[in-house]
Amino acid sequence: MTDQTVNQTPEVHVRVPRYSGSARINHWIVAISFSLLALSGLALFHPSLFSLTALFGGGQMARWLHPWLGILLAMSFFGLFIRFVSQNFPERTDIVWLSRIRYALTPGGEEYLPEVGKYNAGQKFVFWSQAFLILVLLLSGICIWERGLHYLEAAVGFRVSIETMRWAALIHATAAVMTIVVFVIHVYSAFWVRGTIDAMTRGSVSGGWGWRHHRRWLRRKVREGDVERPSNGD
Ligand code: HEM
Repeated sequence: MTDQTVNQTPEVHVRVPRYSGSARINHWIVAISFSLLALSGLALFHPSLFSLTALFGGGQMARWLHPWLGILLAMSFFGLFIRFVSQNFPERTDIVWLSRIRYALTPGGEEYLPEVGKYNAGQKFVFWSQAFLILVLLLSGICIWERGLHYLEAAVGFRVSIETMRWAALIHATAAVMTIVVFVIHVYSAFWVRGTIDAMTRGSVSGGWGWRHHRRWLRRKVREGDVERPSNGD
């Protein structure tokens, strides 16, 4: 075998659609707004990180932009939530999967895990924790956002006391740290589990990926005839 043959990516014969174009656009808006939000938030969080404001054209700009990015994230995540919630409800197999999570972390250990549907328990954890944390960030963020409070007071007469603002600032910072930790876990898994990133870039995954990681989902896709077979008839 020549070096060239070895280095070629093996041809994948069956591809299985996983996300529509609009779901992927929705997801990448969430990913971009989250990243900008985290960077601008960290810039305002501690003086040692203030240099990050340069990315946004200075401190004032970062301070102005941060809450609006938060609104964009909350709205776009709501879109993802509506799309994916039905596939993220907990089931009995999630407990079995979690009790055997060590096999999910060992290469080749998938055979000892129960067959899972579109999402495994780890992915469901990311989904629900981000849904909860983004809601907490939104509510606590509005309580410490002068302009947001001004709108709220004008619209519904809602007022926030200084004490509530202090609590909101603490809750906001705590939820932000937690959401960044969950984000790191999510991105690490997306790259660590080979072939996963294809789901959000190409919209489809290989049949082998489906068989290894989401066998019950793959079986359903095959039953429904929703797989792309190669045109050469292989
Ligand atoms: C650079 C950043 C990101 C990368 C590379 C990334 C990558 C991915 C990939 C590859 C998937 C498909 C997984 C699969 O179908 O098995 C996915 C799904 C998903 N991502 Fe991301 N993502 C990023 C940022 C985010 C952020 C910031 C959020 C939310 C705050 C998010 C929320 C989701 C959700 C909810 C799903 C569907 C999985 C589920 O519902 O359990 N992603 N992401």
